[in-house]
Amino acid sequence: MDKNDIGDINLNLGISSSILKRIHHFPSLDSTNSYLKRNLDKYSSGDIVLADLQSQGKGRMGRAWSSDSKGGLYFSILLKNKWDLRDLNFITLLLATSIDRALKNLGFNSLIKWPNDIYLHGKKLAGILVENIIKEENNTILGMGINVNNKDFKADLLDKATSLYLEGGPVDKKALFASILENLDQDLETYSQDFKKENFVNYIKENSLNLNKDIKLQVADKIIQGRMEDILADGSLKILDKNNHSHLLNYGEIINQ
Ligand code: BTN
Repeated sequence: MDKNDIGDINLNLGISSSILKRIHHFPSLDSTNSYLKRNLDKYSSGDIVLADLQSQGKGRMGRAWSSDSKGGLYFSILLKNKWDLRDLNFITLLLATSIDRALKNLGFNSLIKWPNDIYLHGKKLAGILVENIIKEENNTILGMGINVNNKDFKADLLDKATSLYLEGGPVDKKALFASILENLDQDLETYSQDFKKENFVNYIKENSLNLNKDIKLQVADKIIQGRMEDILADGSLKILDKNNHSHLLNYGEIINQ
């Protein structure tokens, strides 16, 4: 069977899921996030939009997400009126733990780069883009891209990006997708019951790419440089700079990795 064939996995989802509902599978879209954004009234909370290819995959900070290989997994989940806006930074971290656990289950030694990337052997493997649109109701779009069976990358990404295929051989994309969805469903459900962050934050700390290392964090047009000392109980970063000043941040991008 084709390792990249997703087929119909709604059957499993219907039985076991509480938050996630239906998968809508497209051969190609511009971007699963943008598509959902344009069609908010046609989709319900818990709907998942999956595309085999994206012509304009989006990353954070206005960057592109390379989506020209059918080996990649590109999907977005729509959740309506689920979160307080202040929760969205934490939700990104939660999604990273759900994806990372599925990768570890397959034997990959992946690490989480706070707040929204997954790395393997020093290169980027997966990214998360959470967007929120208030239109009659609150719509949160959780977009995730994972390089699964991608065989190569364009020259400018060669030393920055990798895939599970390049690091360990072919992976059954459908099985990985099912395992990620199962984790996501469980984790989103657990979090929305008691809003307890502790277990997720502990997981991030145990599987962090940058904890106790020197980092440069870009926050808007400012760069904060120092040692990443801790990830606090609410998921924010504690950075200690060379003058021994502590900086607490819940948003930003680590740019020296
Ligand atoms: C990042 O690393 O900056 C985030 C990348 C997020 C990529 C995914 S692929 C599915 C969804 N649709 C998009 O256009 N982007 C996200």
